[in-house]
Amino acid sequence: MIDPHQMVFNAIRSVPDWPKPGITFRDITPVLQDPRTFRVLLDIFVYRYMRERLDLIAGIDARGFIVGSVLAYELKLGFVPVRKKGKLPFQTLAEEYSLEYGNASVEMHTDAVRPGQRVLLVDDLIATGGTMLAAAKLLQRLGANVVEAAAIIDLPELGGSKLLRENGASVFTVCE
Ligand code: PRP
Ligand code: HPA
Repeated sequence: MIDPHQMVFNAIRSVPDWPKPGITFRDITPVLQDPRTFRVLLDIFVYRYMRERLDLIAGIDARGFIVGSVLAYELKLGFVPVRKKGKLPFQTLAEEYSLEYGNASVEMHTDAVRPGQRVLLVDDLIATGGTMLAAAKLLQRLGANVVEAAAIIDLPELGGSKLLRENGASVFTVCE
């Protein structure tokens, strides 16, 4: 029987020179498209967190919404979005992070979590770790306890998972 992590790894599509020359984009859409691979992926997360005391799943815009919301449903938890700037309608808190050129920011509703809640942070991929770290800081500013930062893919050569661990986060990824 094929290893579940290997099955997910095998389904990830590498697209050369996207979104710009020299970048190889790791595309998870084939993982989601195939029902068996999608289920295997979610089962990896479900088995990892089913015995963890969690209060909420926070998913990062946009691909973190897909995995995060299914996981929240399966674990019978609520889901809260971490969104790109200007997308959330109510009162927000923002955290900036740096991109290759300039800055970006992520936002959450100020009432998205209550102090002390145990939150799992979910995204598709960790590259430089800037997005995940900004999201973790936002959650911490709201008083949440970030139990782990989870993603499908880690790109270890970009140092993001290392950066997150250096900042005290626990990190789980399905494949590198
Ligand atoms: C991608 C990816 C992560 C982030 C990882 O999203 O889905 O959220 O980049 O990169 P980092 O570790 O260097 O921060 P992107 O910002 O491209 O936005 P998108 O979801 O709108 O495609
Ligand atoms: N895929 C998805 N998101 C990303 C990537 C990638 O290869 N690199 C940086 N963010």
